[in-house]
Amino acid sequence: MSVPPFATGLQLLFSHEQIAARVAVMGAEISRDFRDEPVLLLGVLKGAAIFLSDLARALTVEASFDFLGVSSYGKGTKSSGEVRLTKDLDESMQGKNVILVEDILDTGLTLNYLKKLISAHQPRSLRIAALLDKPSHRVQPVHADYVGFTIEDFFVVGYGMDCAERYRNLPDICILSPEMR
Ligand code: IMP
Repeated sequence: MSVPPFATGLQLLFSHEQIAARVAVMGAEISRDFRDEPVLLLGVLKGAAIFLSDLARALTVEASFDFLGVSSYGKGTKSSGEVRLTKDLDESMQGKNVILVEDILDTGLTLNYLKKLISAHQPRSLRIAALLDKPSHRVQPVHADYVGFTIEDFFVVGYGMDCAERYRNLPDICILSPEMR
């Protein structure tokens, strides 16, 4: 497939074929862990939307969806360090097997904030699935149960991830160089 014109200058990190293979393995792991129990996939908007839709189809257990909106980056590429809820849950998490689905685990601030928020709803279990993990940037310790790829300190876009709302619809994950931000 040719690179769309708006994506020139980006460096490929993971192709859509590599992502699909990894997401299939993550789906199999989650299906094995939950066997016959239904799960609720709780996606963090907007970056995790594409990952969640692919992960959901890689599951062999029953899955329902809900979404939370958070903002910590504004229009830039550096976390403001302050997490703000922009969309709350639609349904109760009480007694459910919740899997929090996140695009990138970076400083850990977002996931720690969301873990507290969801735990207050008394789910039956709470696990975290993150497509990417950037451990070198961690400010707060946080453990993800399912991780797609561990990456270095790159700023990445595509497959749902953005820079000031651009590049989300790229099928691959690419590195955005500092001069393009
Ligand atoms: P944390 O609170 O610093 O862990 O930030 C997590 C959120 O920051 C992710 O869900 C992304 O929305 C955003 N983020 C962190 N690193 C990147 C990146 O390299 N590209 C795009 N978004 C990122």
